[in-house]
Amino acid sequence: MSSEKSVSRRDFLVASGVAATTVAFSASSYARVIGANDRIRMGFIGAGGMGSGHIAACLALKDKDNLEFLGVCDCWKTRADEGAAKLSTKAFTDYRKLLESDVDYVTIATPEHWHSQMTIDALDAGKAVYVEKPMTHTIPQAQAVMKKAKETKRPLQVGVQAMSDDSYASAGEAIKRGVIGKVVQAQIEYVRRYDKQGPWRDPAVSDSTAQPADLDWNAWLGHAPKVDWNPHHYYEWRNYSRYSGGICTDLFIHRITRIMKACDLLYPRRVVGMGGIWQWPDGRDLPDNFEMICEYPRGMTVYVLGTMSNRVGIDHLIRGYRGTLYFTGSGWVAKDKDGKVLEQHEKTGGEDIHLHHTNLHRHLREGTPLNCPIDLGMAGVVAVNMANESWRSSTMMGWDAKAEKMVAASTLSLGHEPEEE
Ligand SMILES: NC(=O)c1ccc[n+]([C@@H]2O[C@H](COP(=O)([O-])OP(=O)(O)OC[C@H]3O[C@@H](n4cnc5c(N)ncnc54)[C@H](O)[C@@H]3O)[C@@H](O)[C@H]2O)c1
Repeated sequence: MSSEKSVSRRDFLVASGVAATTVAFSASSYARVIGANDRIRMGFIGAGGMGSGHIAACLALKDKDNLEFLGVCDCWKTRADEGAAKLSTKAFTDYRKLLESDVDYVTIATPEHWHSQMTIDALDAGKAVYVEKPMTHTIPQAQAVMKKAKETKRPLQVGVQAMSDDSYASAGEAIKRGVIGKVVQAQIEYVRRYDKQGPWRDPAVSDSTAQPADLDWNAWLGHAPKVDWNPHHYYEWRNYSRYSGGICTDLFIHRITRIMKACDLLYPRRVVGMGGIWQWPDGRDLPDNFEMICEYPRGMTVYVLGTMSNRVGIDHLIRGYRGTLYFTGSGWVAKDKDGKVLEQHEKTGGEDIHLHHTNLHRHLREGTPLNCPIDLGMAGVVAVNMANESWRSSTMMGWDAKAEKMVAASTLSLGHEPEEE
């Protein structure tokens, strides 16, 4: 069925999430319009670990969500071919060629250093985007993506899939109603205990691991500094700051976004990051154990613990003057200072990429709000980049709200009282 014929201008506007007065619609411009009964055409960029997860999830959703697959792209042709075979679709090695097709949206599951450019190119081509976390590698890149999304008015879902667990929005609503009183602090963690090779090392990879003949190494490097083939960079990119932010951008982004949603937080005021390469000094330039504290202008701090050497965690909770809200496996429970239950919530949904894709499908068709929209993606990138920069430079970082950039906190006149209430 031709979508252009079957769908009204209103549907297009709803799908784009913009007011009728702000967009000049032309049938020939940008992506096709998606109607309630139309197929959504998808493409996949990056077919490694997470890309394969998206391929499997979307295959499982194919009939229920009425999906059609137009291509799988990876700069390692073998991976593109394998992914494409699973979906009986075409393989690409150049993502720009995939963007020339009729896809409505693409998933981007490549290393962090590629997220911004691929997202911008996809938006420019009129496509909606599901980009893996972190939305981008750096803050200026997140700002460029934000600008492009505003310009193109195409939807962007950030792959923090826990946002499809309603616990955090529901906690936010309870906190707004004053269930735990004035909120002052939250704590959360991401802890793991890695085997002796350490975080993000693959025991099957050594200095002499050869470059696959059909892998385009220059395409993988993209805008990153040019280096000769390096198997550790390709297979273990999370250990190197030129491609990743390590614990902060890979793991903490999942956690801080939960607290941001529950406490209605955007950019932090001050951030410190501490930790080190305590246990695996093996050439990595990012910490293997890390903690961060973000202070927010509303007047609260968020502590995030992240050790990769020991998986004893701490409760995920939000402290208020009247009580404490604990996140549990099944939702959350708020208790007063004596342990009396004030309110509780059984979650619907979960930390699940199927739900996260379906949320985007509903957004495209019906205008259902996105569970992890660009603002949340951007605010997460700001927090974790400030923490990493604090660690790297041994400085407490501050957010210069006017200039919209991170600087040493000592160069700003930041207060110690809430700015918003
Ligand atoms: N949401 C989650 O729970 C979750 C879990 C794991 C990974 N991720 C995210 O998914 C992304 C990918 O991680 P991964 O573990 O799959 O990495 P990976 O290295 O296994 O896969 C990345 C793939 O991207 C391909 N690629 C790189 N540059 C490309 C280019 N220019 N054109 C086409 N293909 C290119 C690589 O060849 C590789 O196959 C990261 O952002 C990561 O943070 C998210």
